[in-house]
Amino acid sequence: STKAKVEVFDSEEVLAESLAKYTANLSSNFIGERGAFTIVVSGGSLIKSLRKLTESPHVDSIHWSKWHVFWVDERVVPKDHDDSNYKLAYEGFLSKVPIPPGNVYSINDALSAEGAAHDYQTCLKNLVKSGVLNISETRFPKFDLMLLGMGPDGHVASLFPGHELMNEKEKWVTFIKDSPKPPPERITFTFPVINSSASIALVVAGAGKAHVVQAALGDTSQVSEKLPVQIVSPEGELTWFLDKGAASKL
Ligand code: 6PG
Repeated sequence: STKAKVEVFDSEEVLAESLAKYTANLSSNFIGERGAFTIVVSGGSLIKSLRKLTESPHVDSIHWSKWHVFWVDERVVPKDHDDSNYKLAYEGFLSKVPIPPGNVYSINDALSAEGAAHDYQTCLKNLVKSGVLNISETRFPKFDLMLLGMGPDGHVASLFPGHELMNEKEKWVTFIKDSPKPPPERITFTFPVINSSASIALVVAGAGKAHVVQAALGDTSQVSEKLPVQIVSPEGELTWFLDKGAASKL
């Protein structure tokens, strides 16, 4: 497990600028190294925090044609539904940058939760075979950058506190039918995949999350059950992007 780097910004605006710079840097490094950049996005407020990538200077300097975009989790709803993480990402980010549509790996919305999870795992396995996706020493896909949000209960992806999915050790992608955050049916990456990442950014803004940020980063010796966010511990680097509000109890 790695030591986390915690960055605190004066406002969400400055956080978004820094996140864009961080992402653009990694994009340039990975594309230089291996000709591709594999990036995983979340739903929720994270997409809004990516807006600076769609603006100058980043929008003109990033090699968008080398990007491959994935989702850490998705709700089992049609792609044009307001609950769809794909729709959120498309409207706020993907429609504004020239990533080839074939490099955008959205979840199949014609399948059941089980079917979609299996189908997405197969998609990842094929991308490992074709060399687009790296693989870790422990044989899980190793994404270049994973962008995670965190819920007010400390959940990441669709891995919720106390839920048995937190303990999945083998599957790459799995599903949940009783998500405490609606909608109930979702598919999600598992912790072995999350923790195989080359880099993870945990992006949290707003005073409403100060309490859980404190719990996540504070002394955990008294706590018997870990929050999902406390299991995030990538092989590579972990950086927290916090605004003042989210960091106000640290
Ligand atoms: C989802 C998201 C989820 C999200 C957190 C934080 O599909 O619900 O991927 O994991 O990142 O719930 O959401 P907010 O940033 O909107 O609080």
